[in-house]
Amino acid sequence: MSISVRTVAHGELQSSDLARIGELFDAQYQQEFGTWTPDSPYGYSPADFHTLVFRRRALVAHVGFQIRTITVGDEAVTIAGTGGVLTDKAVRGAGYGRAAMESAQLAMRTEREVEFGYLGCREGVVPFYESVGWHRIHAIERCISWLDQATNIVTENAPLLICAAQRAIEEWPRGDIDLHGTPW
Ligand SMILES: CC(C)(COP(=O)(O)OP(=O)(O)OC[C@H]1O[C@@H](n2cnc3c(N)ncnc32)[C@H](O)[C@@H]1OP(=O)(O)O)[C@@H](O)C(=O)NCCC(=O)NCCS
Repeated sequence: MSISVRTVAHGELQSSDLARIGELFDAQYQQEFGTWTPDSPYGYSPADFHTLVFRRRALVAHVGFQIRTITVGDEAVTIAGTGGVLTDKAVRGAGYGRAAMESAQLAMRTEREVEFGYLGCREGVVPFYESVGWHRIHAIERCISWLDQATNIVTENAPLLICAAQRAIEEWPRGDIDLHGTPW
């Protein structure tokens, strides 16, 4: 099986890449959330970088991340806020999600300012993230709602996960997290 994986800066995506990403997301989410848009996907923050996994010429998996400085406790921390994690329904369980995530993590680690990867998710996918190098943390998170881009949200128990980039997991600071924007 011919597989290729590449991470591309958002501004360098070809229009054909954008079309394929849109098709991948629309197949999963259009009915519930409408058409995928690159600048504010379903109201979430957009990606600066996209990791794309192709099987033959079809896009089968995607991971996005955006570099942002957030606050943890009283420390400013620069993270790769990660989202848009999706494998085509027809080929799940075949390692494409892992391939996308490993390549995205490699890309985060080559960005000198990125201290950690960061994401929030639902409980059911925590085991996936833990099996591909993410570590669950427990903290209160403040962010702006992806639903209206206005309401301040405080979350106490939703799953939050980090991965090492320029800093090791053990160096994640203690304290409440403020994303200073919408999540990914
Ligand atoms: C979550 C998702 C991206 C996983 O992609 P995938 O291509 O099926 O994952 P892989 O085949 O690469 O699996 C990698 C590892 O994660 C595990 N895994 C995958 N999905 C899992 C799940 N839902 N629960 C537990 N473990 C899971 C696999 O067993 C595998 O572990 P192993 O390599 O140690 O055996 C995919 O199920 C998906 O797109 N789901 C819908 C969108 C979604 O929920 N995205 C996350 C939003 S936060």
